Amino acid sequence: MTSQNGDEMVVTPWKVSGEVDYDRLVQKFGTQLLTDDLLNRIKKHAGFLHLQLRRGFFFSHRDFDWILDQYESGNPPVLYTGRGPSGKIHLGHILPWIFTKYLQDAFNTKLYFQLTDDEKFLIHPEFDMKKMSDITYDNILDIIAVGFDPRKTKIITDVKDISSLYELALKVARHVNFSTVKAVFGFEDASNIGIIFFPAIQAAPAFLESSLANRNVPCLIPAAIDQDPYWRVARDVAQKLGYYKPAQIHSKFLPGLGKGGKMSSSMPETCIFMTDTPNVAKKKIMNAFTGGQATVVEQKRLGGNPSICPVGLYNYYLFEGDDKAAGELWKNCGSGAILCGECKILLAEKIKVFLLEHQKKRVEAKETIEKYLM
Ligand code: TRP
Repeated sequence: MTSQNGDEMVVTPWKVSGEVDYDRLVQKFGTQLLTDDLLNRIKKHAGFLHLQLRRGFFFSHRDFDWILDQYESGNPPVLYTGRGPSGKIHLGHILPWIFTKYLQDAFNTKLYFQLTDDEKFLIHPEFDMKKMSDITYDNILDIIAVGFDPRKTKIITDVKDISSLYELALKVARHVNFSTVKAVFGFEDASNIGIIFFPAIQAAPAFLESSLANRNVPCLIPAAIDQDPYWRVARDVAQKLGYYKPAQIHSKFLPGLGKGGKMSSSMPETCIFMTDTPNVAKKKIMNAFTGGQATVVEQKRLGGNPSICPVGLYNYYLFEGDDKAAGELWKNCGSGAILCGECKILLAEKIKVFLLEHQKKRVEAKETIEKYLM
């Protein structure tokens, strides 16, 4: 699939590149766009519409309408999300988790949070098990810092907690053949046999609550849309196992601070890590690519383009909670009334507050971690 400027759009669980055209992605994956009607229904239950819904960061779904039907008829869903621990947590990771916490509060419901240390061990030949468990512990602190309800949240670390998933994974695996995962995930003859089995392990938590409760419990998975291939497989198998198909609500990708591409730890200068000091974060923001003109005079005359600007987008998606102020910022960028330097300073100030708060909670998480573990 080729976008206008010729960069091929690639969206898989392991690689996102090229210019992402979300409308085409929705078509290609066969998902649905979130409608105003759905947003109004979730607003009613949550009491307010989350920023990430208002600004369209979460934008697509499968069966979210059915989840709301179930909830409204007294059958609340369980939530399931996860993280592949391969390094430090950055803004792009934390956004969907903040949204997941909103859903947990809205539905007052249980959450399974899977850490796929097995997956990352299998695809990173440079990692040993000690490294995996260090990264995993570090990531769990960030997860807890988001503020999930400790009485309603279970963190599953695959390697350590495999006994709670293995039976389900086997039941799934028996219904998925090699040619299917080859087609869905692009596995090849040279792929290691661990990663070929792995999709069964990522499917398992979607059925965990049903299996433990001994009755069918609807499952809703909030995640970035690159994880969708896993859910297609899980949904196919669900019916064969007598479970409900897991539903999804999908987010877009947060762009990095560079030109194009999603935020990725492989380019640390374009990434805001949750453990960055405010000064380090500010430096990265001040060096960011923007949608502005080359000179102040041109910026004032022509205005900037906020829709290709990470600084504009962060202000818009995440850090300016006031819709009116966000709209003004957007407009003032386009008209040239605000300069990139000013916009960057605004953002750096907001990020500073956000990071300091998170880092405080991250330290506190060391004391409460036991309450969250499976
Ligand atoms: N494979 C995911 C990753 O690499 C981790 C993951 C496991 C996940 N279960 C999930 C992500 C459920 C979202 C929802 O990040």
